[in-house]
Amino acid sequence: MEKRKKRLSMKDQYRAMTRLGWETTYQDMDKVFPYDRFEGIKIHNWEAWEDPFRMTMDAYWKFQAEKDKKLYAIIDSFAQNNAQKNLTDASYLSALKLFLTGVSPAEYQAHRGFAHIARHFRGDGPRVACQMQAIDELRHIQTQVHTMSHYNRHFNGFSEFPHWHDRVWYLSVPKSFFDDARTAGPFEFIVAIGFSFEYVLTNLLFVPFMSGAAFNGEMATVSFGFSAQSDEARHMTLGLQAIKFMLEQDPDNVPIVQRWIDKWTWRGYRVLVLVAAMMDYMLPESPQSWKEAWELYFEQNTVGLFNDLAKYGIKVPDCVARIKAEKEHASHQVWMTFYTHGAATAMHTWIPDEKKQKWLSEKYPETFDKYYRPIYDHWKERAEKGERYYSQMLPHLCQVCQVPVLFTETETDEPMKLHQRQTVYKEERYHFCSDHCQHIFEHEPEKYVYAWMPVQQIFQGNCGGPTIPDVLNFYKIEDGKENRDYKGSEDEVAYNMM
Ligand SMILES: [Fe+2]
Ligand SMILES: [Fe+2]
Ligand SMILES: [Zn+2]
Repeated sequence: MEKRKKRLSMKDQYRAMTRLGWETTYQDMDKVFPYDRFEGIKIHNWEAWEDPFRMTMDAYWKFQAEKDKKLYAIIDSFAQNNAQKNLTDASYLSALKLFLTGVSPAEYQAHRGFAHIARHFRGDGPRVACQMQAIDELRHIQTQVHTMSHYNRHFNGFSEFPHWHDRVWYLSVPKSFFDDARTAGPFEFIVAIGFSFEYVLTNLLFVPFMSGAAFNGEMATVSFGFSAQSDEARHMTLGLQAIKFMLEQDPDNVPIVQRWIDKWTWRGYRVLVLVAAMMDYMLPESPQSWKEAWELYFEQNTVGLFNDLAKYGIKVPDCVARIKAEKEHASHQVWMTFYTHGAATAMHTWIPDEKKQKWLSEKYPETFDKYYRPIYDHWKERAEKGERYYSQMLPHLCQVCQVPVLFTETETDEPMKLHQRQTVYKEERYHFCSDHCQHIFEHEPEKYVYAWMPVQQIFQGNCGGPTIPDVLNFYKIEDGKENRDYKGSEDEVAYNMM
């Protein structure tokens, strides 16, 4: 009788199931992989980039299915037990609305972007890793939408989230971040999302939302957060590996990678200013201030990473000095912009109550009482007289990050003076929130002059008209339901009746 062949070892099995790349013969490799050369990154050996996940597709499905099963069991029991009653206050839901409108569609963009580079990298190791990450990101948006759909039955502000994401002025901040990354080449995309966002900044996005949810009695969000975070560990590994691979392949790659790290750390931070306002203002109970989170997750933890990259000649991005100077001010300035433009937001806004203001002055002893409390006092007086202030205009947006030009000269210690920059390009004037956005523009002006700027679009007559009712109509925001002050809102009434 013929002897049965020995089974393959685990390592060979894994290789046979994952390393499916080959050199093409009847088509030129450059035609099959047209995108991975034009950015100037030089690669000599794709084999050096191993798939960091070391998982077969088969194992991946089993593993992820297990996680989903657990998550959906929690979400079901949350809905059955009417756990929305356990919220500290329904004003908390503005934080969830910001997440669903701002972050969840970005997960989908990450899915599309990783699927794209999974096709276009020449090496088969990164291809399979990027493919898995693309599926992870799709799973993230699905679990988030399912989690939050429960609130849609009880509260306003959840139903039109994809429509809002593509149009509303402040949601163009995360949208333009991903549009920018996805219209770059594959190497810049992986630095932008895999490294700067996932590796350097992700903790500042997810941890505050998740711990904020836990502090405010919202366990469904905590569950999807944990479920997504367990994928993030893999994403971080891929991001770091991508950077090291580029840096090790050729010294000519170093300045290109440095420019991308500088650009995307800044772009990522500008998205995080929305999270800063969320942490300091939108959570009835805040576990941590924005400033504390920045100091812990960036100033302390990321130093080690940059020390590690120093041997390749990589330096800490210049923008870190600006972020440091802004950390005492950013959350206040962003929330005040939301408050004054609260007629055109897809969530409620409000003046922080006494308890919150006391907490803010403890967390920001240098700045809150001196600069910001007096403004809230003034607004409160007006609101009590029935004259709650709503701007009838939308704020001017930065051409690059699309955050309103709202920050002040914090680096030169003139916190009441507006910080803005301008560049004239082909006889048109462009506005920026900072030197860093201006530099990004000046490096690639042709890219950013085509940016879809929500406020400019309104003035150009592309959004149904220039007044607030016209704009709300275009946005599909129901006036008096989704926008304006939390006080007196249907959400507040619904919560109090529960
Ligand atoms: Fe994700
Ligand atoms: Fe991710
Ligand atoms: Zn900007």
